Amino acid sequence: MSLSSNTHTLVDRFGRTVDYLRISITDRCDFRCIYCMSEEMTFLPRAQILTLEELAFIAKAFTELGVKKIRITGGEPLVRRGALSLLQEIGGMESLRELVITTNGSRLEEMAVSLKAAGVKRVNISLDTLDKEKFKEITRTGDLNKVLRGIEAAKKAGFERIKLNAVILKNRNHQEVGDLVQYAVDNKIDISFIEEMPLGVVDHERAEDYYSSASIKSDLADKFELIAISDNTGGPSVYYQVVGTSTRVGFISPHSANFCSTCNRVRLTVEGQLLLCLGNEHSVDLKRVIRANPGNLDKLKESIIQAMQIKPEKHEFNLQEQPIILRHMNATGG
Ligand code: GTP
Ligand code: 5AD
Ligand code: SF4
Repeated sequence: MSLSSNTHTLVDRFGRTVDYLRISITDRCDFRCIYCMSEEMTFLPRAQILTLEELAFIAKAFTELGVKKIRITGGEPLVRRGALSLLQEIGGMESLRELVITTNGSRLEEMAVSLKAAGVKRVNISLDTLDKEKFKEITRTGDLNKVLRGIEAAKKAGFERIKLNAVILKNRNHQEVGDLVQYAVDNKIDISFIEEMPLGVVDHERAEDYYSSASIKSDLADKFELIAISDNTGGPSVYYQVVGTSTRVGFISPHSANFCSTCNRVRLTVEGQLLLCLGNEHSVDLKRVIRANPGNLDKLKESIIQAMQIKPEKHEFNLQEQPIILRHMNATGG
């Protein structure tokens, strides 16, 4: 089997084609969001993480195996030194259709223009509340105004689309879903509401704070007319159009509407683990593969093709129990 041509595609045991890679380029972050991290976190030592060159090498292998969309995540990707040059390199890869990024927005004010120039097509920005105090409570260390200025800068930079991500928790920010949609409408951007997933131990009771997509939809019904649309960004959001506006409202519902049957993605952690599913531990150590076979793209591609055989059928999340996945979202790549 020659792996040098670009004709391979990645298909798993359930017939799902994987054409979307999410790369976490750092586990570090300047925020400490309560659903993502516990207050005290230890981050990986530098010696354990992939270099920028190694990250680009793995991205190249994936694009040669039919991956069309790469999302750069973290932690907060923009806190990694050299993030821009990596984005530039990946953005220039032949056959990649879309380079996109998920960020907390804290550095967008300074970096939005350079991100656009590096080839980033779309930006997803976390925003759970428009209330300054509540923002501090949820992110522990974040500054709302800085993020809002970052969103402004992203709008000016002219990305194809900007989407907000809001993780909704009962009695913390569920009262704000209407205001968040109004903000998205006013700014002509999209928004996705996300049900919290049980990754890693955090400091609040996830089952108590669960707020379903159905509840959000019914809360919004008083103020907005939403119609179901078939738009698909390649991610798990199910979209609705806010009638009379350009805004789409997405719902990411890992608990109430499982989307695993259409899963098209895998994740690379900054430690070099290829995670075959967000909610399972199945993984392959690609750092070991590339360090044992320096510069050998075919060997790496073979390992990636084989990894598809262990992609699990679905995730099983149970908010009532202690999380079975111990890695936090920042180490997982969102
Ligand atoms: P686009 O559709 O490309 O805009 O992106 P996205 O919504 O898939 O990506 P984003 O990084 O904005 O992630 C939003 C939320 O979706 C995060 O909480 C992710 O963890 C979640 N998500 C993305 N992919 C998966 C998945 O495969 N399984 C689960 N359970 N959640 C996912
Ligand atoms: N459950 C659901 N979404 C989460 N995110 C971070 N942690 C969790 C969690 N436990 C979201 C962030 C960001 C995206 C990448 O993942 O809000 O928008
Ligand atoms: Fe940082 Fe994103 Fe995790 Fe918040 S959700 S702590 S911004 S990685």
